Amino acid sequence: MKILVTGKGGREHAILTTLRETSPNAKLYAYPGSDAIAELATCVDARDLVDLVAFMQREKIDLCVAGEESYLVKDRGLSNLCAEAGIPCWGPVKEAAQLEASKVFAKKFLKRHGIPSAAFGVAHTKHEALRAITQYPVVLKFDGLAAGKGVAVCPDEASALEFIDEVFTKRAFGEGDLLIEECLTGPEVSIFVSICEDQYHILMPARDYKRVGDNDLGPNTGGMGAVASRELVDAAMLTDIEERIVKSTVQGLKKDGLRYRGFLYIGLMLTPVGPKVLEFNCRFGDPEAEAVLPMVRGDFAWYLLSAATGELKPGLIHFAEGWSVCVILASAGYPVTSRSGDRIAGLTGLNGASVFHCGTRKSSDGTFETHGGRVLAVVAQGLTRAAARGSVYETVHGISFEGRQLRTDIAKLHFV
Ligand code: AMP
Ligand code: GLY
Repeated sequence: MKILVTGKGGREHAILTTLRETSPNAKLYAYPGSDAIAELATCVDARDLVDLVAFMQREKIDLCVAGEESYLVKDRGLSNLCAEAGIPCWGPVKEAAQLEASKVFAKKFLKRHGIPSAAFGVAHTKHEALRAITQYPVVLKFDGLAAGKGVAVCPDEASALEFIDEVFTKRAFGEGDLLIEECLTGPEVSIFVSICEDQYHILMPARDYKRVGDNDLGPNTGGMGAVASRELVDAAMLTDIEERIVKSTVQGLKKDGLRYRGFLYIGLMLTPVGPKVLEFNCRFGDPEAEAVLPMVRGDFAWYLLSAATGELKPGLIHFAEGWSVCVILASAGYPVTSRSGDRIAGLTGLNGASVFHCGTRKSSDGTFETHGGRVLAVVAQGLTRAAARGSVYETVHGISFEGRQLRTDIAKLHFV
């Protein structure tokens, strides 16, 4: 089987590693990939998506797996182009991927289908935004892809004004509207669901750590770590999530005629009045994928191919017992800036842990160096949360580079 994964970060490195381990005979490709990914897959160079799909046709690729979100909504959409070319794609068509690309689209979808979520309003101008805010704290969200940086939880007027200026005056994220949302409270959890039209399969729950500093302090990042376990969410809560959120989402997609084949990431807040949806993403989470995927057992490649061709077969995979913890090592200056070119030491002898490369490149002498904000995802498993946490931090201590930043409290508590 020939499989191509789109993307270049830690999530894609984890997807490809799981494919390699569970299907040793599969031939793997990545677009665009990275120096680390090139060690287990052929990295493809293509001018654009049309060129990429032409390559896949020529090469007789059996399955395209969408890692990164941007290609799903770029040009005519990765999945749409694959469909035209007759290539099975695990990732939704552009029309359905609006669930992630447009927060307003997602909020309207949630409302239309009665799926629990925060109350909201939409502002097209600074004036409308100021008028729509009736109380603090308030949550402000830029309506578009902003690499995890387009959301501000504002405790007061000053912080709200600052974000409104970023959106409407400085246009820091480009052109777009602003969502004004009721501020919810409670622990957050990410639920990953494989959806093939009206079939679904709930995967292992996880949570990520978005703030740069310990105790959830400092600015938001792309994610500084993650924890995954079946024990993260108890059975009663999971049933509630399935009944109130997953089923109505799957039915809603069908009612709206949105063809969905792919992972759906549902960001939830477990509020005192039940789980509510914070966001949808139309792909696996990053860094949650790095924590969840090493727990996958079974035939992951056939699972994805079968689902992408219309039949979801949950029995093809299962998840290991216990816990998986992922700690991100970020470069100096992240998330405001990042630094490239710092040599990384200690990448061998990992003692059962895994390291996925988020932002590295090979230097001229063949060793890896930093190349971006989030550099490495270090992941370890254990039967208990404490064991997994102990193991991952032991591995982390052996890996070093100049300016290395990390959180020391990943998975310290069941929820923070
Ligand atoms: P999002 O990209 O929409 O998931 O938002 C990023 C983060 O902002 C979430 O993980 C939450 O921590 C926080 N957040 C988003 N929406 C809300 C809300 N309505 N109430 C409280 N916090 C929120
Ligand atoms: N973990 C956050 C994301 O993948 O968007």
